[in-house]
Amino acid sequence: MNPYEKLLLQNKAWSEEKIELDKDYFSRLAHQQKPKFLWIGCSDSRVPANEITGTDPGEVFVHRNIANMVVHTDLNLLSVLQYAVDVLKVEHIIVCGHYGCGGIEAAISKNDYGLINKWLRNIKEVYKMYQKEVDSIENHTEKVNKLVEFNVIEQCQDLIKTSIIQRAWKHRKGPEIHGWVYGLNNGLVTELVNIEPDLEKVNPIFRYNEDQL
Ligand code: CO
Repeated sequence: MNPYEKLLLQNKAWSEEKIELDKDYFSRLAHQQKPKFLWIGCSDSRVPANEITGTDPGEVFVHRNIANMVVHTDLNLLSVLQYAVDVLKVEHIIVCGHYGCGGIEAAISKNDYGLINKWLRNIKEVYKMYQKEVDSIENHTEKVNKLVEFNVIEQCQDLIKTSIIQRAWKHRKGPEIHGWVYGLNNGLVTELVNIEPDLEKVNPIFRYNEDQL
């Protein structure tokens, strides 16, 4: 059998299994989604948001890209963010990086990857901010993993620089921002940072006038 056909067969089996356990499963989900969480994760196939958090369809609104980046010119990310924050009114945003991230490793190298250079450029900017700390590590794997952590912390900062988050913080005291890192070798998440809603936490140059929010 073509491996692609296997996916369709597995889908059928999965759907039947769900209905067997709970006959209203899909009719309930089809009615509406009210996820409490927005997940911003890496596209890496080994870091599936629902599976590693033990959540079901309907629980997590998901955006994934190479190296879980929050790029302020990325219309895709910004649209997902605005919808999640303003319409779904998620209570938590999780930025989840992972150790051994290929995107971070590529950014730390000097290789020319063509178009992807444009994306990796954003990670190189993070590296530049933490160059001293990262370069003080000899071991290549540890060096990559340290940049993975710093990158998650910076992407959380990039979230709170947006007017989307600042407006929500002013008007509904939410959402909370969480920076996580996932270990491919043990399946465990480590919490790196939690940012509770407080406009004072935004660097002043990125903080919009409160009466305009
Ligand atoms: Co990755």
